[in-house]
Amino acid sequence: MSANDRAAPVLVLGGTSGARELAAILDGDPSVRPITSLAGRVADPGAVAGEVRTGGFGGATELARWIGEHGIAAVVDATHPFAAAISRNAAEACAAAGVPLVALRRPGWTAGPGDDWHDAADLADAAARIAGLGTRVLLAIGRQEAPAFAGVAGAWFLIRAIEAPDGTLPPHHQLLLARGPYALEDERRLLADHAIDLVVTKDSGGDATRGKLDAARERGIPVLVVRRPEAPGGAGITAVATAADAAAAVRAALVR
Ligand SMILES: NC(=O)c1ccc[n+]([C@@H]2O[C@H](COP(=O)([O-])OP(=O)(O)OC[C@H]3O[C@@H](n4cnc5c(N)ncnc54)[C@H](OP(=O)(O)O)[C@@H]3O)[C@@H](O)[C@H]2O)c1
Repeated sequence: MSANDRAAPVLVLGGTSGARELAAILDGDPSVRPITSLAGRVADPGAVAGEVRTGGFGGATELARWIGEHGIAAVVDATHPFAAAISRNAAEACAAAGVPLVALRRPGWTAGPGDDWHDAADLADAAARIAGLGTRVLLAIGRQEAPAFAGVAGAWFLIRAIEAPDGTLPPHHQLLLARGPYALEDERRLLADHAIDLVVTKDSGGDATRGKLDAARERGIPVLVVRRPEAPGGAGITAVATAADAAAAVRAALVR
């Protein structure tokens, strides 16, 4: 039996920088064999340490079956805080399969002195509130959700995403294809060059994409923050905030 055969397979539900960081940590541990799962939304997801599988599982029941068939010893839900369906499926599948689940949930952002933030309950609410807040909008909410703003005709949008969104977009817009992290000085310049008077963001949390929030504060313009969907809870879920803590929680789960 090789060392790799003895390593415990750990499924990391990925698609985030935290998941990539975690895979690198676990890949350096000879007792763990990380398998990162990607939804397959972007053509070039970037390098990930360890094994990678791509594509949906076919729902919670199929995910539970996959976990059983692959002898998965622990699962880490390191998906984006707005990826609600896969998080729900992971909680349900792990409960059904009797496998420990670690949820890597980076903390959300909070406003500080000088910030002019406005909460939106969801994307539809955010789209409805643009009219009262700005006319030149940096829409930094990712590729999948941009069509939620298709009906907003009274503003011009700079839509930033890793790849071009599918679906209808607002009538007045420019696409900016880019991938974070974004430095504060670049965000400052972007807002100035495009005369941006409103930033729209999801409450993604983390440092990689928070530069736009600091640049908006400096510029004295409002930020419309789409709040997170509720994360699943349950007795078998260990929630942590960092990749290092997720790795520690995985190791603790494996010795139990
Ligand atoms: N939503 C965002 O704002 C956002 C931002 C950055 C990155 N991402 C990443 O992009 C991926 C998709 O996000 P989403 O908002 O479409 O998620 P979602 O709405 O929660 O998921 C929809 C379906 O996509 C499949 N799926 C999602 N993540 C998967 C993964 N890591 N591995 C295998 N299948 C996955 C699942 O299909 P089945 O039911 O068939 O298994 C899931 O039911 C996630 O991995 C997430 O971390 C999302």
